[in-house]
Amino acid sequence: MASSGPHPDDPKWGEVDRFLAELFGPDDPALEGALRSSEAAGLPSIQVSAVQGRLLGLLARLVGARTILEIGTLGGYSTIWLARALPPGGRLTTLEIEPTHAQVERANLDRAGLSHLVDVVNGPARDSLARLVAEGRGPFDFVFLDADKPGYPEYLAGVLRLARPGTLLVADNVIRHGAVDDPHSTDPRVQGVRRFLELLAADPRLEATALQTVGSKGYDGWALARVRAEPDDEAPAPPGAAVGKK
Ligand code: SAH
Ligand code: DHB
Ligand code: MG
Repeated sequence: MASSGPHPDDPKWGEVDRFLAELFGPDDPALEGALRSSEAAGLPSIQVSAVQGRLLGLLARLVGARTILEIGTLGGYSTIWLARALPPGGRLTTLEIEPTHAQVERANLDRAGLSHLVDVVNGPARDSLARLVAEGRGPFDFVFLDADKPGYPEYLAGVLRLARPGTLLVADNVIRHGAVDDPHSTDPRVQGVRRFLELLAADPRLEATALQTVGSKGYDGWALARVRAEPDDEAPAPPGAAVGKK
């Protein structure tokens, strides 16, 4: 490995993340309780950071999401941020393969007073997505993809069948410490997110981009994609076509 590569875990990134999290509002007892009980139950500490959780909630509100689908629940830290962004009558469905994680999640949602808004679906996301499609569920206004990375390409297909024009998809962990640009990577997670990004980029139903991030979780990034109204509509406005111009 070349010594000039990015440092995967510069402590500064975590320090600044803590500064920002405190500035914009430290975790309240429900979020803190979710982290503590997840740790006590031996769950890996791989949830989104506090500032990322806040951004998820902000994005869900920006698109006016009444229905949210989360793929990859863990202990429900991101679920709490997302469920809190729902309007009255809104609904969140979250998919989790590990029974223990789903159990911890349910207890954390109870403590957060959010259980009535959330369906925790225990099982492989592939099967759960197929069942949601078969049951005619959706459309979901907002989707957060955060489960096993090799599964991302397949989950995208399911998500698109559960989406509508305007649905926003956010996917975590698509930069993988910068390994994403290595076509020869033998890491199935890297290959999974590479294929996923290629699918996002090539799909005429989507407008998409990806962002590199650093923070308490090191060097990684998010992909964002919006489902278009029609494959070939919403072409970029020609020069001079400013909004509000008569
Ligand atoms: N979104 C959570 C973190 C999720 S970590 C948060 O930010 O708080 C990824 C989760 O995906 C883990 O709980 C893992 O058990 C789950 N997972 C892994 N493979 C899966 C699969 N095939 N189907 C559903 N969930 C899966
Ligand atoms: C892992 C999974 C995640 O979703 C994440 O944000 C960080 C790490 C993991 O499986 O190691
Ligand atoms: Mg993640």
